[in-house]
Amino acid sequence: MKKRVLVTGGAGFLGSHLCARLLKQECEVLCVDNFFTGMRRNIEGLLNEPAFEVVRHDVTFPLYVEVDEIYNLACPASPLHYQRDPIQTTKTSVLGAINMLGLAKRLHARILQASTSEVYGDPEVHPQPEDYRGIVNMTGPRACYDEGKRCTETLFFDYHRQHKLDIRVARIFNTYGPHMHPQDGRVVSTFIVQALKGEPITVFGSGTQTRSFCYVDDLIDGLTRLMNASSDVEGPVNLGNPTEMTMSELARLIISLTGSRSRLEFRPLPQDDPRQRRPDISRARELLHWTPQVSVEEGLGKTIEYFDNLLADPHEADKLVWRFPQ
Ligand SMILES: NC(=O)c1ccc[n+]([C@@H]2O[C@H](COP(=O)([O-])OP(=O)(O)OC[C@H]3O[C@@H](n4cnc5c(N)ncnc54)[C@H](O)[C@@H]3O)[C@@H](O)[C@H]2O)c1
Repeated sequence: MKKRVLVTGGAGFLGSHLCARLLKQECEVLCVDNFFTGMRRNIEGLLNEPAFEVVRHDVTFPLYVEVDEIYNLACPASPLHYQRDPIQTTKTSVLGAINMLGLAKRLHARILQASTSEVYGDPEVHPQPEDYRGIVNMTGPRACYDEGKRCTETLFFDYHRQHKLDIRVARIFNTYGPHMHPQDGRVVSTFIVQALKGEPITVFGSGTQTRSFCYVDDLIDGLTRLMNASSDVEGPVNLGNPTEMTMSELARLIISLTGSRSRLEFRPLPQDDPRQRRPDISRARELLHWTPQVSVEEGLGKTIEYFDNLLADPHEADKLVWRFPQ
């Protein structure tokens, strides 16, 4: 019998790739999404698959379905999106986790949480291993996301200790690729769209802050390996690409790969913006035999092609203007 897998946030950037990968692995996939940031076009290619089903649902409300495994990805991930309605962001993380953990408990299902490198805040340890506890400003504008995700991790480990739930927690570092929203304000999508349009590339601060970027195919590979790892995986696992670069380097690379004439324009650094980020992925290497395979040049090439096609179609591009739901 096919494994039945629930993916919350399945119409989002990562969720849509995960749904596609699970269908390839012969699973039945139930995609649950409230379409706050998710896009129908992300899952359009899957709608005719007999093993694929979509339900519009907000995870802050209980969900009664029958599945064997749960990937909990529902949560806006870009600062622009999650700061639009910060209270809803915390609710989505915390109430969403309580509802999905309750479901997993009833079904005796394994559940994976899409946590984030944001739990490390603006880190003082570099690169960040899983046992680093992080520095997060709990009253700042990013706290709704960072603290929401930290509380979710707490809930996952309490459900594991108290109810023996079979849990997996992935701490995802910056991931990019096709299906990102062109107006999500994330650095890779923003720089690519600006470069393709020949507009100035807006770099925050002096552009010396660093990030490490993982291509989406690698990340999805890591997530499914973590879910399927046979041994009990104790504790969270970092998933990301350790290749680190400054924002100015990223901007220049995108300019060169797109052949754009855009120039760099420096803007003030947003509050609590982390200065550096690089995952220590020793645990993922050891436990999952996982290491990213796609180079930044190759991954950016595929992402640029995606945005180029999107922007070339004025009808599609217009539909993609992100209008905040009322
Ligand atoms: N992409 C990254 O670099 C990254 C890094 C760290 C963690 N993550 C985590 O991975 C997950 C997916 O991120 P993404 O980049 O695909 O973001 P995304 O915004 O593209 O996807 C999130 C999805 O969740 C849905 N959603 C939001 N609130 C919901 C709710 N209350 N009920 C049901 N659905 C809801 C959205 O409509 C969207 O489809 C998130 O939990 C995010 O925190 C992503």
